[in-house]
Amino acid sequence: MFSIPSLFRLDYRISMSTMRHMCACKNTTNNSTKNHPNDSVKIAAKKTYKRKLTTDGPDLFQFMASTGKTARNVKVHPEIPPYLDPASLRADGAKVYLDVYGCQMNVADTEVVLSVLESQGYVRTLNSNEADAWLLVTCSIRENAEDKIWKKLNYIKALKSHGKLSKNMSVGVLGCMAERLKTQLLEANNVVDIVAGPDSYKDLPRLLAVNRNTGQAAINVLLSQDETYSDLAPVRLSKDSVTAFLSIQRGCDNMCSYCIVPFTRGKERSRPIHTILDEVRALSDQGVKEITLLGQNVNSYRDVSERSLSMYTPRDSPATRKDFKTVYKTKEGGLRFVDLLDQVSLINPEIRIRFTSPHPKDFPSEVLYLIRDRRNICNSLHMPAQCGSDKVLELMRRGYTVQAYLDLIQNVREIIPGVALTSDFIVGFCGETEKEFERTIELVKTVKYTKCFMFAYSMREKTGAHRRLQDDVPEDEKKRRLNLLAKTFRQTAEELHKEYIGTTQKVLVTADSKRSSDDFQGTSEMGTKVIFPKLQVPDHNGILRQVVPGDYVNVVITETNSEIFKGTCTELTTLTNTESLQSRKEQYSASTF
Ligand code: 5AD
Ligand code: SF4
Repeated sequence: MFSIPSLFRLDYRISMSTMRHMCACKNTTNNSTKNHPNDSVKIAAKKTYKRKLTTDGPDLFQFMASTGKTARNVKVHPEIPPYLDPASLRADGAKVYLDVYGCQMNVADTEVVLSVLESQGYVRTLNSNEADAWLLVTCSIRENAEDKIWKKLNYIKALKSHGKLSKNMSVGVLGCMAERLKTQLLEANNVVDIVAGPDSYKDLPRLLAVNRNTGQAAINVLLSQDETYSDLAPVRLSKDSVTAFLSIQRGCDNMCSYCIVPFTRGKERSRPIHTILDEVRALSDQGVKEITLLGQNVNSYRDVSERSLSMYTPRDSPATRKDFKTVYKTKEGGLRFVDLLDQVSLINPEIRIRFTSPHPKDFPSEVLYLIRDRRNICNSLHMPAQCGSDKVLELMRRGYTVQAYLDLIQNVREIIPGVALTSDFIVGFCGETEKEFERTIELVKTVKYTKCFMFAYSMREKTGAHRRLQDDVPEDEKKRRLNLLAKTFRQTAEELHKEYIGTTQKVLVTADSKRSSDDFQGTSEMGTKVIFPKLQVPDHNGILRQVVPGDYVNVVITETNSEIFKGTCTELTTLTNTESLQSRKEQYSASTF
């Protein structure tokens, strides 16, 4: 199981001699990515060309991050050194450039980061050349995700050394990679000034101020048991977008043996429901038309906050499906995902609700019935299978067999007719033979997904697989399997999508098509991208008007491939309106004559 004590350990009594040791150590470990002798140290002396640490300077304790244990005690930084008074945390007009990698959760996190920084006077810039701080919000899920960040850091270093960026610009690594590599990031290429894990974003103004005022690097990688940032209003990165992400939960307790997330994002914790509902209302007021609820295990949402418990009666039915196992003790009481989905979808029936990423184990029938009955909860479900072999699923510690997964799919299809299914797959996991890989191919053919995210296995340190298993499938073989799986998926999706030709899809118009400004693009309820020419179409009164992003329109599908639909827009519509204008006209003529 996840070792909390080691993650939360923090030695506050590191002496100045330890600090001097660090400086010396730093000088001798340039360009090394080896583990630092003391990972829990909160500041590393860096940029010695700017300022050397002296024994009469501030002691290490003054640089310590607040523990981040509760949302309340991280807001203000109690131990601010004398020259870092609260006013010096402000950076009025300082420009921050945000560079986001990885999953949608990282986009949501960046909106939290921007909220924290704007509250201290920072402004966002889209031009990295004029930035006072360049913050990379990073991903660690596979080695290639980290490779991209290293390349970017080297690029920034080159720009700095050629005088194309200010030498004083702070460079920060935030998120999963910060949490995984900690001080190694400061040592490796001598360009990183700030390291902030996913639970220490509220500490960013202090970390930046330390770096700005002293030229020293600053780090806070403490994971929290209960930080959910629910007391902050995220600042949306795409203000004009009609779609938004909303984080409802952080961390993960599942411990799938391949996955680094429990180590980079810590224990699973959910936001109190009222804070989520407030955010949905705010997004509704801003004209957002589609909200995707986010979490690493979104459907195991559980609000156990006191305020919520007093408002709702607990349910008796199990939240986890039978035939699915968990490695942790199922949480007792509190509000569940079905309660959240119910409340969220009632706020504005004209806002589509999606959620990602769920785990198949947490799909009790009551969730499926709610999705069927609520018109604005999209009938498209992500069902990450990961692979089609029982032996590999067991090694992955997914907690289900292929049969249990297929039974769930059947149940989902019975309850929600026309549901679209998507999945994640990993190929080349430890011990996966050709036969076992073929079972994954079979599963893809059997289920017929509309979209699949497919990955070659990448072993991550600390995970169960790293400790117990052998990464024994050669890289070339992983690539071959990945190509074959992708080909199989494309063929099945192509066939499946052909069945939609001639159907009418309700589409949320999101933007101009990337290929042509004569076309719009949008998403169907099943989550497929739909392209159609810009035309004036009738509204519900039959009056012609130009379509704009944020409209719902009916599109008759004329062409499909494995990824997208193309079609002709026939009329404007709404989510609550199930009838097309055409059918109402027919009804009207039938009853009149
Ligand atoms: N290697 C390859 N893919 C991975 N995923 C998670 N960890 C790894 C890994 N170590 C994939 C899983 C997960 C998705 C987000 O990323 O398929 O569902
Ligand atoms: Fe990557 Fe996972 Fe972190 Fe998202 S949560 S950024 S996918 S490691």
